[in-house]
Amino acid sequence: MSCDDPRPRVACCDWLTFARTLEPGSVNFVYADPPFNTGDVQTDRAGAYEDRFESTAAYLDWLRERVAATIPAIKPTGLIALHVDWRTSHRVRVMLDELLGEDRFVNHLVWSYGLGGSSPRRFARKHDDILLYGLDPERYWFEPPMVPATSQRMKGQLKKATDVLDIPSINNMAAERVGYPTQKPLALLRLLVSACCPPGGTVLDPCCGSGTTLVAAAALGRRALGCDTNPDAVRITQSRLECSAAATADAARQG
Ligand SMILES: C[S@@+](CC[C@H](N)C(=O)[O-])C[C@H]1O[C@@H](n2cnc3c(N)ncnc32)[C@H](O)[C@@H]1O
Repeated sequence: MSCDDPRPRVACCDWLTFARTLEPGSVNFVYADPPFNTGDVQTDRAGAYEDRFESTAAYLDWLRERVAATIPAIKPTGLIALHVDWRTSHRVRVMLDELLGEDRFVNHLVWSYGLGGSSPRRFARKHDDILLYGLDPERYWFEPPMVPATSQRMKGQLKKATDVLDIPSINNMAAERVGYPTQKPLALLRLLVSACCPPGGTVLDPCCGSGTTLVAAAALGRRALGCDTNPDAVRITQSRLECSAAATADAARQG
């Protein structure tokens, strides 16, 4: 697939199929938020998807094959992030060390999302894990995102973000909520895309769900590529991309 066309592109197909259509060395940033192998079907009002595999080993085999097929498409200055959780992050990190090399590891980001229940049996689980690797440890492109400082001393100023990203998950009343299960907040993807992909570069989300990554990428002037096996996800992504493009055009007209 050529990267000359700047328009967003979303396909209804398996990540593996899509990866094999990509031009070698054409993608700046891959962000994948795959199923977590929770053992459930994830359901919400706008769709559902299977989130279960025969075993953890089967899950890791599934993921390894797709990541391996995607690596040739990443530029030498590119980055790849896998969004997982406590169930598999330790195993996925070892898998990425093996596929890419331990020295390619950049960050283990903690997305601290706050919302949800608690348990009397353990500390409440309130974060996901985002494992970030660069293809070349000397050359990967990175622009540290700036976030509001919290200390009294730096009140009102910005500081470089740490590896703990305090961003609330989407609540039931949020305007951006489209009702797709496990939809991630735009604020999280805007931060990751602006940090990991240069302006004008290409972002790929091969399990795009409701299209959060693609919407963030397009709004930030990056080329957005994505796929999902679920036709509902692809329909929602296309419609979000159209709304967001219309809003951007409106804003430009109004100066
Ligand atoms: C955690 S959700 C992604 C949510 C997304 N980040 C969002 O903000 O809406 C995972 C997605 O992976 C998709 N998926 C599962 N298996 C897939 C495969 N083999 N290839 C591509 N997508 C797949 C599911 O349909 C689901 O939409």
